[in-house]
Amino acid sequence: MPETIITVFIYLPGETTAVPAGRFTHSSELGIGTFDYGQRYLKRPNALPVDPVALPLGVRPKEANVNEGLYGAFRDAAPDFWGRLVISYEMGVPPESISEIDYLLATNATRVGNLDFRNSPGETEPELNPPHFNQLHDIMEASIKIQSGEKIEKHLIHLLRQGTSMGGARPKCTVEWDNELWIAKFSGKGDSLNFPQIEYATIKLAARCGILTPEVQVVSVEGRDVFLTRRFDRKKSEKGWLRHGFISALSLMQWDELDRVKWDYPSIADMMRRYVSADDIRELYRRMVFNIMVRNTDDHPRNHGFLVQGDKISLSPAYDIVPSIARPGVGTTFDLAMGIGDEGRKANLKNAISRCGRFGLSKQETIQIINELKEVVSKWKEHFNKHGVSEKDIDALIPSFMIHGEFADIRL
Ligand SMILES: Nc1ncnc2c1ncn2[C@@H]1O[C@H](COP(=O)(O)OP(=O)(O)O)[C@@H](O)[C@H]1O
Ligand SMILES: [Mg+2]
Repeated sequence: MPETIITVFIYLPGETTAVPAGRFTHSSELGIGTFDYGQRYLKRPNALPVDPVALPLGVRPKEANVNEGLYGAFRDAAPDFWGRLVISYEMGVPPESISEIDYLLATNATRVGNLDFRNSPGETEPELNPPHFNQLHDIMEASIKIQSGEKIEKHLIHLLRQGTSMGGARPKCTVEWDNELWIAKFSGKGDSLNFPQIEYATIKLAARCGILTPEVQVVSVEGRDVFLTRRFDRKKSEKGWLRHGFISALSLMQWDELDRVKWDYPSIADMMRRYVSADDIRELYRRMVFNIMVRNTDDHPRNHGFLVQGDKISLSPAYDIVPSIARPGVGTTFDLAMGIGDEGRKANLKNAISRCGRFGLSKQETIQIINELKEVVSKWKEHFNKHGVSEKDIDALIPSFMIHGEFADIRL
């Protein structure tokens, strides 16, 4: 059976050069991967797991047999739809013809987290070379062309590639600006609403609801709005960029991306109890309620993340929260992407309250959180207006926030 072997590197805390942590053997045919820590790595006093859940130190590693044989932290570091499109374009082959391992090797130093994947332990350190903010216009032009299947000049695709190794489907690129790294998310081809502006206003609303959020901005690049979110997994030091580890909730749970029936907030809360603070579990609850109130139905477990700083794991700042568009006059009931409570994924507050104990919350505390959020979210129109969303887009979003009428009727 053909197997591929690559070396997994890690940037340890305080270091800007990665060290080899071990060998990853992968069979794309079987969809199975096995990681073994290197003996020299294990002798390091500061050694950390490359995936704190799937591959803890001091335990014989189990093979990875979900998600095509990639351990969670490896999968999180791999590109998704957008990154795959850019990588395959540069390689000149269809995205489907590239193996998971080749995608891992093709990602560059702007990928999320603190891992790196190389052909051998001796391979040299790649440069972290994201484009500068003032090149955004060229990058956006390349992103528009790639979406329309047009030919792109070599230097433009190179520019886009340098910053494109993050996950997700939306066109995006990491750029450096003011000694910080930012993810620039562009409008998608054919978007009818200004999503950069809407995502910005929604993240700001989340912040007002007491949710931990990254620094965000909207900038206009030659007439087109771009949403910028500051990378929470990178920090510039005198030596260069320092990196924090990152795992998504999918990886915390070791769920399969296709096994959607398992996805469930209270189960994440149960697992969080082993790894993170009780405050973070309450924060997850707050994010779940916020997702209900703003109809963010794309709240799948890769849109929730955790930062790994040394041996400490904490909920990452929130990201990718955008109201989904609903049709006027069509029912106000909808589901989130993950289970909420006794009524499964049904997005309503009664359901959110039903399993509050699993989040370490009493009914009283839950009601307090819900009331706090209701107070803020009910003023979403003024808030969106103040944060630059156009009248036309606010009107289009009214059906997405329709549930508020119902909320007001629920006697808590
Ligand atoms: N501020 C941030 N700092 C670091 N990583 C981030 C940040 N925001 C998002 N990410 C990572 O980038 C991925 C893609 O971003 P996301 O906003 O989810 O894009 P999309 O809308 O295309 O899904 C996320 O799944 C997460 O791993
Ligand atoms: Mg996403």
